Amino acid sequence: MTDSLTIAACSRRRFWEDVRNLIFDLDRIENAPKECEEIDKIVDLTPSSRILDVGCGVGRHSIAFAQMGYEVVGVDMISYHIEEARNVTRRMGLPVSFIHGDIADLPVKEDVGFDLACNLYRSLGYEDALEHDYKVLRKIHSMLSGGGWLILELIDPDDFYGNEVRTSEAVVSGTVFKEKITVDTCVENYELTITKVDEPDIIYTATHRLFSWQKIREMLEHCGFSVERLERQSLIFKPKGSRKIVVIATKT
Ligand SMILES: C[S@@+](CC[C@H](N)C(=O)[O-])C[C@H]1O[C@@H](n2cnc3c(N)ncnc32)[C@H](O)[C@@H]1O
Repeated sequence: MTDSLTIAACSRRRFWEDVRNLIFDLDRIENAPKECEEIDKIVDLTPSSRILDVGCGVGRHSIAFAQMGYEVVGVDMISYHIEEARNVTRRMGLPVSFIHGDIADLPVKEDVGFDLACNLYRSLGYEDALEHDYKVLRKIHSMLSGGGWLILELIDPDDFYGNEVRTSEAVVSGTVFKEKITVDTCVENYELTITKVDEPDIIYTATHRLFSWQKIREMLEHCGFSVERLERQSLIFKPKGSRKIVVIATKT
């Protein structure tokens, strides 16, 4: 197919619909409960602990934590994801509360007193302005109880060298997904070409901010967190795709 349509992915529902089966594949879904168990071993949760899943996507971790008996609130700015998460938890009879919206813009009267906030599988750095990421971290800080935990999983920009162009290809249910990633001073340029039989190719482009371990540490401390542990070879999350930085912090 030679025709193609180029779309800036940004926060478009259609992009997330098209990539649903690529980014939330079975492997990732099945691995989430193990990740939550690992997190549970690190942070001091009690049976009455409340967990905030920021950028919860389709609710992989929200659902796993709820199955472990915790009270969970998941927040995501993509309605498509929230709808799926709500449908799944309704079917499973799990009492998870999902909120559709940008965490940074949640009203001031929002829920507070969480014991753990998770921001997993790179859910920071989506908006153009760095100030937005500070707003997200400050908002999470305000929603945690004193001493509450934050776990962040981010792509490590130092995993990319110079002008490296990283490509990958996957076929899911007959649809071909070709990814091309370059990193330019902590900005990831992402291009995804989707080829479906008898349809014009769709090329999505997006940019995401990446954070060096020094930068994320500085940002967290600026927002009132104390960094307890910072891993560049994660022991919690299964290595898949680019290398991750995992930060475990507490609200001071
Ligand atoms: C790669 S997905 C990861 C989803 C989920 N954490 C997981 O591990 O399956 C990133 C998600 O973060 C969400 N997101 C990014 N920034 C956000 C924000 N400021 N407020 C709410 N959701 C956000 C996106 O909409 C997207 O669903």
